[in-house]
Amino acid sequence: MQTKMILTTDHLTKTYRGQNAVDKLSLAIPQHTVYGLLGANGAGKSTTLKMIAGVVRPTSGKIYYHGAPWQRSAMAEIGALIENPPLYGNLSANENLLVRTTALGLPRARVAEVLQQVGLTDTGNKKAKQFSLGMKQRLGIALALLGSPKLLILDEPTNGLDPLGIQSLRGLIRSLPTQGITVILSSHILSEVEQTADEVGILAHGKLGYQGEMPQETGALEQLFLQVAQAHAPKSEGGVR
Ligand SMILES: Nc1ncnc2c1ncn2[C@@H]1O[C@H](COP(=O)(O)OP(=O)(O)OP(=O)(O)O)[C@@H](O)[C@H]1O
Ligand SMILES: [Mg+2]
Repeated sequence: MQTKMILTTDHLTKTYRGQNAVDKLSLAIPQHTVYGLLGANGAGKSTTLKMIAGVVRPTSGKIYYHGAPWQRSAMAEIGALIENPPLYGNLSANENLLVRTTALGLPRARVAEVLQQVGLTDTGNKKAKQFSLGMKQRLGIALALLGSPKLLILDEPTNGLDPLGIQSLRGLIRSLPTQGITVILSSHILSEVEQTADEVGILAHGKLGYQGEMPQETGALEQLFLQVAQAHAPKSEGGVR
């Protein structure tokens, strides 16, 4: 059976001041999987996700959603949490979600549904600014889930969380494909991607060095990551360390 791709990119490129932040990237994201975009700081993860989420315009190359060229209308099916969650600190979780629900013209019942989905049903009147980092991330994901997206984009969702927070967020992310949601997440942490994603794309200096199923053998992802880093190292770094 052939795997259906929810999103593909073809030679996707973003140039800032003559430098390719993202360089001819051809990604293939299979439907109903968690796809991990792995790369060191500055590898081009956020820039890639911003282009897919329609926040940054590609310099060249194409994005296809369900095989058709990306249009703004695709955003109705794409939810994104890139960088910090856009929260109103003085509002509760419920109120934050209601503001967005109203803006998007969605039924109010969605608020309780997404709170349930992310496990934030018991925060009551507590203001978002009093939330822990993990709770803020969950609320950010709840906001991205409001419009019932088919594709959820999460940029470094576990950044700054403690091991327990990471583990519990991983459980949430892993549960999404079974609900018909494909997830693309970025991380610079090998173990994070290894434990969360079914598929992996490894970026180095804006280039895709590897893409495919998550290798199952212990240490195999690390090997791949190091190979990719060496193959794409700038000449001045001399390749091998
Ligand atoms: N708005 C911008 N203007 C100029 N350069 C930019 C801009 N955004 C990103 N860059 C550059 O593009 C490259 C890729 O950045 P990007 O933020 O996509 O990397 P990243 O993989 O998300 O890194 P990190 O792990 O640190 O978040 C970097 O060299 C960065 O300096
Ligand atoms: Mg980033």
